[in-house]
This record gives sequence, C-alpha cells and structure tokens, in this order.
Amino acid sequence: MRNGTFQDKVAIVTGASSGIGRATALALAERGAKVALAARRADLLQQVAAQVHQSGGEALVMPTDVSDQPQIEAMIAEVLRHWGQVDILVSNAGQYIRRTTTELDADVMQTSMNVNFHSHLHAVLAALPNMLERQAGHIVLVSTMDGKKGLRPDAPYVAAKFALNGLGEVMRQELREHGISTILILPGRVDTPLIENLDVPRIQAKIPPEKVAKAILRGIERNQAEVYVPSFVKLLHVLNVVSPRLGDLAAHIFHLEGWETD
Ligand SMILES: NC(=O)c1ccc[n+]([C@@H]2O[C@H](COP(=O)([O-])OP(=O)(O)OC[C@H]3O[C@@H](n4cnc5c(N)ncnc54)[C@H](OP(=O)(O)O)[C@@H]3O)[C@@H](O)[C@H]2O)c1
Repeated sequence: MRNGTFQDKVAIVTGASSGIGRATALALAERGAKVALAARRADLLQQVAAQVHQSGGEALVMPTDVSDQPQIEAMIAEVLRHWGQVDILVSNAGQYIRRTTTELDADVMQTSMNVNFHSHLHAVLAALPNMLERQAGHIVLVSTMDGKKGLRPDAPYVAAKFALNGLGEVMRQELREHGISTILILPGRVDTPLIENLDVPRIQAKIPPEKVAKAILRGIERNQAEVYVPSFVKLLHVLNVVSPRLGDLAAHIFHLEGWETD
C-alpha cells in the first residue's frame, strides 16, 4: 500500500450510490481494487458497478441501510464470504440533518446519530475482526469540517460528526499497533446531492467529489491521520482552537452556514 498500489485489495465503500462514496469507489476500482458498493438505492449501485465492470474491474452491489446494524453486519459478512478479507473500509454514508437547538427534539438527534455515527461504529466493529486477524487494514471515516467547528443550525449533524471524530481519534492510537490505520476525512463543502439545496459563500466554494476521492486515496497511501480537503479549511479549526469566539465570529462574518434554497 505504501508503494501506492491498490491492486487486488478488497475495499468496502458505504454511500457508494452518490457523491463522495461513488467517486471514491470508482477511483479505487480504477487503481485495481475490488469494490463492495453499499447504500440503499440498488439501482444507482448497479450503475456504479456497471462502470467498474466496463473498465475491467470487480464490484459487488450490496444494498444496505447503514442505520441498521444487522444489515451492515450481513453486508460485511457477505463481502468476507465472497472475497475472504477486507483491506480497506471507507465508511462514508451520511445525511445532512439540520435543526436549530430551539426546534431540536430527541428523535431528530437519534436519527442523525444512527446514520452519522452508529453506522460508522457498526461498520468498524464488523470489519475489525478480519483486520485484526491479519494485523492489517485501513479504516477511512468520512467526517466533515463541521466535526471540528460546529456551524449553526446543524446540531444533529455536528454532534454526530464530533462523536465520529472522537471515535476515530482513539481508534487511530489503539489500532496502529495492530497494523491498522485510521484516517479521518474532513471535507469543507462538496458539490453533491447532500447540499444541493444550499448556497454557500465564495470562501467555501463547493469542490467536486472527485477531489475528495483523490484525497482519500492519498490519505490511505500515506497513512495520514487527518485529511482536510481543501486543506485551507483547517484554518477555521485552528482559529477556533485559539479562540472559539473568533471561530464563531468568522463563521458569522462569512455566513459559513450558507443559505438554504427551495
Ligand atoms: N457534501 C458535502 O458538502 C460534505 C461535506 C463534508 C462531509 N460530507 C460527508 O460526506 C459523506 C458523503 O456525502 P455526500 O456529500 O457524498 O452526499 P450524497 O451524494 O448525498 O451521498 C450520501 C450517500 O450516503 C448514502 N446514505 C445515506 N443514508 C444512508 C443509509 N441510511 N443507508 C445507506 N446509505 C445511506 C446515500 O445512499 P442511498 O441514499 O442510496 O442510501 C449516498 O450514497 C457524508 O458522510 C457527509 O457527511 C459531505
């Protein structure tokens, strides 16, 4: 992997039907990896698989609701049955769930925690035994810059992503001695259906999902701990660490929360 080869590695990508997951699955397949494609919309997964097959690659379509633990476990068990191992887990599926704190209720928060945190936890727990057995593997957790600096009115999304960052932080330290790397991906705004109804300020211009996919593959090759993409979004995190009030001010001045359209 250090030499930059993904040839014949087995990769699972959740959220592979769209956006960052789709772009990452295609990029991995292009570099020779066998890709298991997980998401709910089987028709879209079939299209991604067809693209992989056309260029001579191997893909498995695995319709899965990642908010349902038994479905994740069954999906990973099936991949293991089919290919015998999991080298790379790209845990990426997620939903942008926004709600002001004054309008928040426990159900909304639970929904976000299920899809934006527990889904990752369950995927990691299901893939881990095989990686531990082989003392090798790469676990990519697709978080967000919002998981370093929370933006209004995103409490459900932000809380789940902060939890994910915390999990990743500890996993990285503990699993390293087992030959397993944990890579946290922290994108800014990305041009995908997730935020198609959100206009964003110029400073936060949406980047193509292919750029995130490229950063993910580079992060795996270099065993990077955290990948900010684009890299300058890290400045907001640094500012917020120095002074949360300055972080708040920057978010306010630049309208980093964006503007919702119909
Ligand atoms: N777009 C951004 O600006 C941005 C910025 C930072 C981080 N991110 C993160 O990047 C990740 C991917 O988002 P994206 O921007 O690529 O959005 P997207 O194009 O909307 O893709 C989201 C993916 O997640 C899958 N998904 C959602 N709920 C699921 C469920 N319950 N079970 C299985 N799959 C589910 C969707 O598949 P199905 O609907 O077919 O199930 C889809 O493939 C998310 O974790 C998001 O938080 C995005």
